[in-house]
Amino acid sequence: MKRLAVIGDPVGHSLSPLIHMTWIDALRLEASYESIRVPAGETAAALDDFEQQEFQGLNVTLPHKQAVLAKVTETSDAVEAIGAANTLSRLPRGGWRADNTDAPGLLTALARIGLSDFSDKTVLMLGAGGAARAGLFALDRAGAKIILLNRTVEKAEQIITECCSRAHVSGPLGTLQEHADHADLIINTTSAGHGGAHIPLPDGEGRLFYDMSYGTPAEAQLAHAKAQGWQTEDGLGMLVGQAAESFSIWFDGVRPDIEIALTACRTSL
Ligand code: ATR
Repeated sequence: MKRLAVIGDPVGHSLSPLIHMTWIDALRLEASYESIRVPAGETAAALDDFEQQEFQGLNVTLPHKQAVLAKVTETSDAVEAIGAANTLSRLPRGGWRADNTDAPGLLTALARIGLSDFSDKTVLMLGAGGAARAGLFALDRAGAKIILLNRTVEKAEQIITECCSRAHVSGPLGTLQEHADHADLIINTTSAGHGGAHIPLPDGEGRLFYDMSYGTPAEAQLAHAKAQGWQTEDGLGMLVGQAAESFSIWFDGVRPDIEIALTACRTSL
């Protein structure tokens, strides 16, 4: 019996148990997936406990994505560049290995809607928090040209230096209108629309506006984008994409069915 869990605080709203149990049930695997609240400041002690209780894999959400790094034995290149982990796997010799599956999760979500070659694409990315770091890492490695705009422009400059292998353009969010004409797609990682406001967009002319948020917090921004003529997509595809990567790490390369998990999530929201 493989024991898996998502840890965070708050964690009650997490869709991860639903996603992973959908796959565990569909594939008739001997495994369980729980949601466990671990308060900030208790990360290291909790990882020791989970190792003793023979958990084999953990998803990590706020506020532990960076704190786990002080406690793990091995880290992937993505974790090093992004500075945060969302997936831990118990090592046979003891201790934990840290991966970040948010980056491939975004690429899975974009491939699902027909976007897989970024070598000639310019991506306009909004925001410079944790979600943007993973997105930058993924699209930089995929060969895209990136324009990163953020309310606090210094943070945009800093994460390009830290997460990217090549130079990209950065600027203040207020320059969105002038940069939008040059973009093949926009990826929004900000929480600017979570309270019902939205970042104003120019005419989309059928181009893609991808929002990493989903559910009620994403509604206002996506409705505005749609009204401006953008093709819109919410962040559930990325959520399920990152879960599929974690699942594959824990279950020796098994690729679970993205569509059944997406349907389960949309039904529950
Ligand atoms: P996450 O981990 O989801 O990326 P975060 O690290 O809190 O979350 O980042 C939130 C992002 O949304 C930041 O880029 C933030 O801009 P600042 O770096 O200037 O703080 C952006 N953001 C939040 N509220 C915003 C608003 N009202 N207008 C514009 N940007 C906003």
